[in-house]
Amino acid sequence: MDRYAVFGNPIEHSKSPLIHTLFAKQTQQVIEYGRQQPDTNGFNDAINTFFTEGFIGANVTSPFKLDAFRFANELTPRAKAAEAVNTLYKRQDGSILGDNTDGAGLVQDLQRLWGELNGKRLLLIGAGGATRGVILPLLTAKVQNIHIANRTASKAQQLGDRFKKEGAITASGFNDIPEIQFDLIVNCTSSSLDGGLPEITPSIFTNASYAYDMTYKAQATSFMVWAEECNPDIRTADGLGMLVGQAAESFYVWRNVRPKIEPIIEIVREML
Ligand code: ATR
Repeated sequence: MDRYAVFGNPIEHSKSPLIHTLFAKQTQQVIEYGRQQPDTNGFNDAINTFFTEGFIGANVTSPFKLDAFRFANELTPRAKAAEAVNTLYKRQDGSILGDNTDGAGLVQDLQRLWGELNGKRLLLIGAGGATRGVILPLLTAKVQNIHIANRTASKAQQLGDRFKKEGAITASGFNDIPEIQFDLIVNCTSSSLDGGLPEITPSIFTNASYAYDMTYKAQATSFMVWAEECNPDIRTADGLGMLVGQAAESFYVWRNVRPKIEPIIEIVREML
């Protein structure tokens, strides 16, 4: 039986084993999927042992995405762009492919919720690893333009500079967001996890159609509630679908089969 696991520290609350087990059932694939928690400086030893023991794929989460990026023998373009790896795959020749499926997970979820992304004007809030991981996949999905706004303007600027040859990207601090209409606003910060909000002008929501928060909770996140207060017509969603979407993309990398994410999102939502 093909064996997989998710690596992270801490890892006990990871939903990946549940999600992949549900995918396997849905697509009638026979796999085993576990979880591993190396010490924070023990990723390399743990992953070497893992592949030596015959496992063939891993998901990687915090704090090991950079370790996995360095460990891979070959990287996909989206992993290179993200400078982080969340999916490792041991190929037939024994080499390890490093991929990053986070951006594809977001794109898949946005398309499922609100249709095609081509022509849409996006505002991404935050300029950390979460933002870096989704820029190339969003541009590949033909969004019209992306503005990155970050609390620390220089970080947004760096990210904007890095990706400007890939497509229409601008960047600023929270106080200099251009007064243009954004169709879709994505909160790429983790501010909602403790009920916080980015200190950004509420006018960004006035003419926007959609607001997406990459984090998720059992109830609507603080960012979703705020967006709806600012614009009662706006449609909002949290990042649970992105979580299931990135897992589905990993499953596809490993198994060449694409699970349907909607029924799995429903099951996982019930368990939050
Ligand atoms: P990740 O890899 O999860 O994206 P990160 O690299 O630490 O995490 O980046 C976190 C991002 O969220 C940063 O852009 C951070 O803003 P700063 O660069 O100014 O620190 C942003 N962030 C986190 N909490 C925030 C908050 N409460 N309000 C605004 N921005 C926040």
